[in-house]
Amino acid sequence: MTNPSLLILPGDGIGPEVMAEVRKIIEWFGTKRNMAFDVSEDLVGGAAYDKHGTPLHDDTMAKAQEVDAVLLGAVGGPKYEALDFSVKPERGLLRLRKEMDLFANLRPAQCFDALADFSSLKKDVVAGLDIMIVRELTSGIYFGEPRGIIKEGNERVGINTQRYTESEIARVARSAFELARKRGNKVCSMEKANVMESGVLWRDVVTEVHQAEYPDVELSHMYADAGAMQLCRWPKQFDVIVTDNLFGDLLSDAAAMLTGSLGMLPSASLGAPMANGRPKALYEPVHGSAPDIAGQGKANPIACILSFAMALRYSFDLGAEADRLEAAVEQVLADGKRTADLLGEEGVTPVSTGEMGDAVVAALDASI
Ligand code: NAD
Ligand code: IPM
Ligand code: MN
Repeated sequence: MTNPSLLILPGDGIGPEVMAEVRKIIEWFGTKRNMAFDVSEDLVGGAAYDKHGTPLHDDTMAKAQEVDAVLLGAVGGPKYEALDFSVKPERGLLRLRKEMDLFANLRPAQCFDALADFSSLKKDVVAGLDIMIVRELTSGIYFGEPRGIIKEGNERVGINTQRYTESEIARVARSAFELARKRGNKVCSMEKANVMESGVLWRDVVTEVHQAEYPDVELSHMYADAGAMQLCRWPKQFDVIVTDNLFGDLLSDAAAMLTGSLGMLPSASLGAPMANGRPKALYEPVHGSAPDIAGQGKANPIACILSFAMALRYSFDLGAEADRLEAAVEQVLADGKRTADLLGEEGVTPVSTGEMGDAVVAALDASI
């Protein structure tokens, strides 16, 4: 039997730094658990632009379509901000999502006990929190046409279009209902049906899919602005939240702060099953390239490490090993190890990115 294949795209800024720690974990599973992966690496984002003049080379795109899973670090940075839209680093990531048709972006926000004091919200609001945001990832205002900056008389006009088809809404709704059945059996759908036609259709289609296929799951609807407020007021009321591409982007960054740091939030972007039954999949931290701390060994690698745990669970059916890796992270945090983004306690010296990765490996060692 051949090993499962992984394509690693470290990207820019802290992307390569956090990915180096994930490499240690992958190696650990190969040597200590006899679960070897065939790993290849390539460029994405600014790094790809510097070499090829494009943020995603066609060959890299083709490789991403063939492997069992893609792991991505982060893309972007100040150096590339003035570039034309068509070649910005972020376009490389958007192309991967679109061409792999990764419509369901799972962004879990879990508050580890050891970090319950680190949220900007009160401890009892976040302690024990475990919610899942399902963000539609391949449509909506990120991709709708027309778009662009045009001239109207003497003025420039910036245009983006929110557009959703019924089938696009229905498939991401199904992903959310399926996940809910394995968790707390509750879905809250968020849109702005009070002001947007696409929101009216979103609410209708989610309701139809619910009635026809998932009547056993509890469904509620919320306007996304009220949802943002509720997420800060009492986030534990939620189990699974399903929402569109843009609202999901905003709500998941907000949810990150419930867990203590953006450096803690992993994600899985899943598409339809491939011939081998595995879903098309890309795993990446929710955070970006963090130019303000890049190159200083300060980045928290946990979001990227937990993204690999999601790969074990969702691509390779290794749920028990994913649990093992998550427990190792939890142990390291319980032992008081903190990267600089998680400081706040008196007398705690931060560990570096590399030391955090090593500590997770040591906790994995202790687990067998
Ligand atoms: P960011 O997520 O890179 O950083 C926001 C803040 O969080 C910064 O202060 C940063 O230092 C901190 N932070 C983020 N990740 C951290 C980690 N792992 N450890 C410690 N601190 C961490 O967002 P931004 O500054 O708005 O964007 C920077 C660049 O990243 C932009 O080019 C943006 O487009 C890109 N971006 C990429 C992705 C991605 O690749 N998926 C996601 C978001 C932003
Ligand atoms: C994210 C990022 C991306 C998005 C950018 C980098 C394209 O913010 O993954 O959350 O807006 O989707
Ligand atoms: Mn984002």
